[in-house]
Amino acid sequence: MPFSFTLSETLPADEAQIPELYASAFPEEELVPLVEALLPDPAVLSLSARTGALLIGHVLFTRGAVEGRPETVALLGPLAVHRDHQRRGIGKALIAEGLARLKTQGVAEVLVLGDPTYYSRSGFRPASRVTPPYPLPAEWTEAWQWQRLDGTSDDLGGRLILPEAWMRPELWG
Ligand SMILES: CC(C)(COP(=O)(O)OP(=O)(O)OC[C@H]1O[C@@H](n2cnc3c(N)ncnc32)[C@H](O)[C@@H]1OP(=O)(O)O)[C@@H](O)C(=O)NCCC(=O)NCCS
Repeated sequence: MPFSFTLSETLPADEAQIPELYASAFPEEELVPLVEALLPDPAVLSLSARTGALLIGHVLFTRGAVEGRPETVALLGPLAVHRDHQRRGIGKALIAEGLARLKTQGVAEVLVLGDPTYYSRSGFRPASRVTPPYPLPAEWTEAWQWQRLDGTSDDLGGRLILPEAWMRPELWG
């Protein structure tokens, strides 16, 4: 039988479980302060995956803009799936749900910094011409990926501008 889980916008009961989920998915990184700073921001779409009341997956999409351009774009991340529930399609489902919602809201392009082997399965392509808020180390160029949601085929170009919580050089390498 396929593993069953539910997806929705993050609820207060999920928020309380975020520290434990991130400790499981990212034992060597401290992303909880960033996630908690972003959660109340109206520019952020936060989605949760649960089995029963247990939070097993979480993703944030932060809306922003490309300098000098009128379009709304979004950054995917972080994405976390509990260690005990990885490789069950939860990450892929959270990404698909977020992209579908952003598309209906008219978001033109989504960026992500992550493993291209993983994100290419959800339609992302390496090496966006949109530049992150701060320069990435050269070896991360391929990890900086993009996809258009508005049916246009070209990558936008220019510097990505995000809410304050993301505008810290140390988050970008
Ligand atoms: C990466 C992560 C979000 C994927 O979520 P998930 O629910 O386990 O992934 P899915 O079930 O949607 O997809 C699984 C497939 O992706 C592949 N995959 C999973 N993690 C991968 C990775 N880091 N790199 C490449 N492929 C990966 C698996 O091989 C699997 O393919 P298979 O079923 O053919 O073997 C999750 O494993 C996780 O939280 N990892 C730790 C934190 C992390 O690295 N987050 C990403 C931040 S950019």
